[in-house]
Amino acid sequence: MTHVDLSGKVAVVTGSGRGLGLAYARSLAAAGAAVVINDVDADAAAEAVRLITADGGRAVAEVVPVGSTEAAQALVARAVDSYGRLDVMVTNAGVLRDRVLWKMTDEDFDTVVEVHLRGTFTCVRAAVERMRAQGEGGRVVVAGSPAGQRGNFGQTNYAAAKAGIAAMVRTWAMELAKAGITANAVIPVAATAMTKTIPVFAPHVEALEKDGIALPDGLRKGEGFGTAEDVAGLVTFLASDASAGVTGQCVGIGGDKLALWSHPREVSVAYADGGWSAEAIAAAWPVTVGRTPETFGIPAPQL
Ligand SMILES: NC(=O)c1ccc[n+]([C@@H]2O[C@H](COP(=O)([O-])OP(=O)(O)OC[C@H]3O[C@@H](n4cnc5c(N)ncnc54)[C@H](O)[C@@H]3O)[C@@H](O)[C@H]2O)c1
Repeated sequence: MTHVDLSGKVAVVTGSGRGLGLAYARSLAAAGAAVVINDVDADAAAEAVRLITADGGRAVAEVVPVGSTEAAQALVARAVDSYGRLDVMVTNAGVLRDRVLWKMTDEDFDTVVEVHLRGTFTCVRAAVERMRAQGEGGRVVVAGSPAGQRGNFGQTNYAAAKAGIAAMVRTWAMELAKAGITANAVIPVAATAMTKTIPVFAPHVEALEKDGIALPDGLRKGEGFGTAEDVAGLVTFLASDASAGVTGQCVGIGGDKLALWSHPREVSVAYADGGWSAEAIAAAWPVTVGRTPETFGIPAPQL
C-alpha cells in the first residue's frame, strides 16, 4: 500500500475548529503536516490545536472569518510566519441559512455566498500566489456538496455556492496545471453539527455517539453516510504526492463509500439546419433532447 507522508508540508484548513474541518486537520497532522487551524470560534480553534499537539502534531490557530481577501491573506501569512511555507489549502468553512426561495432574504443568500463561494475564491487565490512564488507545486482541496451537484430543497444559496465551487475547481485545474498545483473538490457526507439532526440520520447518530453503536450498512454503504473521520482520508490523499495526477475532480466520500461525480456534459443533442425556432423546439423536444430529462435533487434516503 502507498505510504502517504506529509512530512515537511504545511497546510491551512478553514473552519477546522470542529466537524469535518477538525477531522481533516487531525488527519493531515497525523500524516506529518504542520497545520494552521482556522475558525470563527476561538475556543473551538484552541481546542483543535490542543488535540493535535497532544497527538504529537504541529498546529497553530488563526481566528478570522473567511470571506474577505484580508482574512485569506492572514491565513497564508500565518502559515509562512509559523512554518516557513504553504503547500496545501483546504477550504472547508461553512454555514447554512436554509429557506425556500420565496422566504430567502438577501442576507441569507449573501452570508452563504460570502463564506463558501467568496471564502473559497479568496483563500485559494491567496494560497496560489504563495505556491506559485515557491515554485514547488501545491494542493488545493475545496468543499463541495451533494446539494451543489444535484440541487436541494431549501438551499438556493448553498446549492449555488457549492455548484460555483465545483465550477471554480474545474477552472483552476486548467489554470494551475503548469505550476504543478492540483485542485479538487471533496463532496462529503458525514454526521456533523450540520447534518446530524436530519430526521432519518438522527437516531443512528445518537446511538453512535451515546452508546458506540456502529452506523448500519444501509447508512454507511447505501447512503454513504458516516463520521467526519471517514471523510478525512480523502483530504489527506488529495493533499499528498500520491494524488499528483489527480486534478479537476469532484470526489464523493462518506461512510464506506468513495465515488467520482460526473462532470457536466451534453447527454443528448439534436440539430436543425439553419437553427432552432421556438416552434421547432416545441415539436422536437419530446422526441429528441427532452425525451429523457435529467433528474434533480438529492434522492431521499432508502432506509
Ligand atoms: N456534513 C456534511 O455531511 C456535509 C455535506 C456536504 C458538504 N459539507 C461541507 O463541509 C464543510 C464542513 O461542514 P461541517 O459539516 O463540518 O460543518 P460544521 O458546522 O460542523 O463546521 C463548520 C465550521 O466552520 C466554521 N465557520 C463558519 N463560518 C466561518 C467563517 N466565515 N470562517 C471560518 N470558519 C467558519 C464554524 O464555526 C464551524 O466550526 C462545509 O463547507 C459544508 O458545507 C458538509
